[in-house]
Amino acid sequence: MKILGLETSCDETACAVVEDGRVVLSNVVSTQNELHQRYKGVVPEIASRAHLERILPVIDEALRVAGVGYKDLDAIAVGNRPGLVGSLVVGVAAAKALAWSLGRPLVGVDHVQAHLHAGDLVEKGVTEPPEATRFPALGLIVSGGHTSVYLVESATQQALIGRTIDDAVGEAYDKAAVILGLPYPGGPNLDKLAATVTFNIKEARAGSYDLPQSLMGDGNLDFSFSGIKTALLYKVRGTPIGRGAETTFARTSADLSDDERARLAASFQYAVVETVIKKLGRALDVLHAGGVKPESLIVGGGVSANSYLRKRTGEFAARQRLRLMIPAMRYCMDNASMIAGLAYHQMKAGKIDDLFLPTIATTAIQEKRWALARRD
Ligand code: KG4
Ligand code: ZN
Repeated sequence: MKILGLETSCDETACAVVEDGRVVLSNVVSTQNELHQRYKGVVPEIASRAHLERILPVIDEALRVAGVGYKDLDAIAVGNRPGLVGSLVVGVAAAKALAWSLGRPLVGVDHVQAHLHAGDLVEKGVTEPPEATRFPALGLIVSGGHTSVYLVESATQQALIGRTIDDAVGEAYDKAAVILGLPYPGGPNLDKLAATVTFNIKEARAGSYDLPQSLMGDGNLDFSFSGIKTALLYKVRGTPIGRGAETTFARTSADLSDDERARLAASFQYAVVETVIKKLGRALDVLHAGGVKPESLIVGGGVSANSYLRKRTGEFAARQRLRLMIPAMRYCMDNASMIAGLAYHQMKAGKIDDLFLPTIATTAIQEKRWALARRD
């Protein structure tokens, strides 16, 4: 079964054709980085206008690369939540038009659930694809909008068991990059700079380059990244002088030497990733105590492209005897293959939508507190 997927939830206009939920026949992504660069963040109105201009050429290109025509498609899938509503409507309107005119089913897909599916995607032509995710799984989504831990029971059933109470990891990376005076997009640039120095926590402490890890008390599965951001700001610019709107700082990021900037980047990366790994350990303990034994660790979202996070989740999974399902780099960032891939499983579970499919700013995944709700 060939499904065409569309993704326009934020600042990437993407279209893909995926066969039977896994085999990617084409994966076209048009990024808008150049449009949002000067604002150091995504401007919703600019994003939705760019989606409008790009969506038809992107669809044409995805069909061309896949070598299929409209008549070969079995269904049309689209990310309809969560995201910027002005961006989502462009993909959803295009998907409805395609589904209606071709007489094919329309499948609305949750973007976060789709990130959790991205590790299952494989390239066309791979003769021996790796085994797909084994369930139940422990899931981690780290992106610009989400930092959450899930119990994943199947491709279409997940429960949220921990989440950030303030910034998402990607957002924290992007803000830290601005504090350090790095160019947009912040996350990947900070990652690259951090990798230029060897980080050692003892040396960092001795040189006072270390930054705090926010664990928020025993057994807590939530995340908080606002404290580390402030700590980094003070290390870069000195203690603030004055209060409120009158606050000034003795230094700017331009006063950092290249070596100091790289050390602070590495220290930030270490504190954030080690926090995530500790929370994964706690989540596993909570699930085990509740009688659930995850077989896989799923990692997804834009920050799963991070070099240190990839290394540390790999080590964690090996230590805990979990199968690591982490996407190839091109499926870490927002893409439509994950949308088309998950739609296949939704169709198998009988979840098909109609032309009233809404766009919704929030995810469909429900919260379930495993520490409190023990399952028999
Ligand atoms: O999943 P994604 O493409 O969009 C959202 O759904 O949010 O994630 C984008 C986020 C951005 O904050 C970006 O800075 C971050 O992922 N990111 C990274 C890296 N690559 C992308 N953060 C840290 N290290 C990276 N290598
Ligand atoms: Zn995303």
